[in-house]
Amino acid sequence: MVKTVIAKAHTNIALVKYWGKKDAQLMLPQNGSISLTLDHFYTETQVTFDNQLTTDQIYFDDQLLPAAKAARITKFLDLIRQQSGQTAPALVKTANHVPTSAGLASSASGFAALAAAGSRAAGMDLSPKALSRLARRGSGSATRSIFGGFAEWYAGHDDATSFAAPLQDPVDWDIQMIAVVLQATKKPISSTDGMARVVATSPYYAAWVKTAQNDLERMRTAILNKDLTAVGTIAETNAMRMHALNLSADPAFNYFTADTLTAIKTVQNLRAQGINCYYTLDAGPNVKIICASADTAAITAALQQDFAADQLIVAKPGPGITIKEV
Ligand code: DP6
Repeated sequence: MVKTVIAKAHTNIALVKYWGKKDAQLMLPQNGSISLTLDHFYTETQVTFDNQLTTDQIYFDDQLLPAAKAARITKFLDLIRQQSGQTAPALVKTANHVPTSAGLASSASGFAALAAAGSRAAGMDLSPKALSRLARRGSGSATRSIFGGFAEWYAGHDDATSFAAPLQDPVDWDIQMIAVVLQATKKPISSTDGMARVVATSPYYAAWVKTAQNDLERMRTAILNKDLTAVGTIAETNAMRMHALNLSADPAFNYFTADTLTAIKTVQNLRAQGINCYYTLDAGPNVKIICASADTAAITAALQQDFAADQLIVAKPGPGITIKEV
């Protein structure tokens, strides 16, 4: 019987980052990571396995993806077919719900939604833990997007032991992120390639793995204590150390633009004025500001000296994956 399944997954932002694999085929990370899933950005994906099709057909926001661009998705569908015994090609329709050209469309929500919809449509009924392991094979950060609130991805040492679990969900205290959406230039290097270069060439990589371990322990405690200052301080330092790895790679690279540095400076100035806010950045120019909702007005007012109001998006803790058969 042909079954169509729709899954919705929200993106997540890491507070202790994943930046390097120890096994690229199994997608095992060098260190564990902790993230906050956000309510504002999500992907909705519909999957149908259908013997009437001759090849996989992947639609992205109603556009059929050419085979070259769909390769990573097709490879992931092959993994689902291999695990489920399903043999038919798949029709995949996916839509990213992010503000136009926000540059926040992420492989995290994308592969989490595809893992959930694809596995169910193929006839599997996976537990959240098994889904997290499957999503990991698509993109590392997707491992955590199965869950809402704060989630931790345990690095593990093989396929069975590398998965995420909820750390705190729902999040019943006041923490949010303001995304500063900046003009994207062409990405200097993908996250997959950037982290591989760093592992291979940064002389500081061993120190990163060691300090990340310590950051994880302190971050768990900070979240448990609902301590915004500790969460923000640890996240900010961790993010800058990740970007320092990129600056220390051979050849060096970075994701910063002039606007990125302007936004960072604004956060530093606000903090000097007594406003409790911190920044984090991923493999792109956008800055995410960790803060309490009471400070939204002060922070957005300061940012609006350099950025337009529609470049600022306030996001709250978001939910885990939802799956429905249609
Ligand atoms: C900086 O998950 O995009 O956002 O596993 O190669 O698909 P692949 O990489 P990806 O890397 C995300 C890196 C990060 C930090 C994080 O989300 O932990």
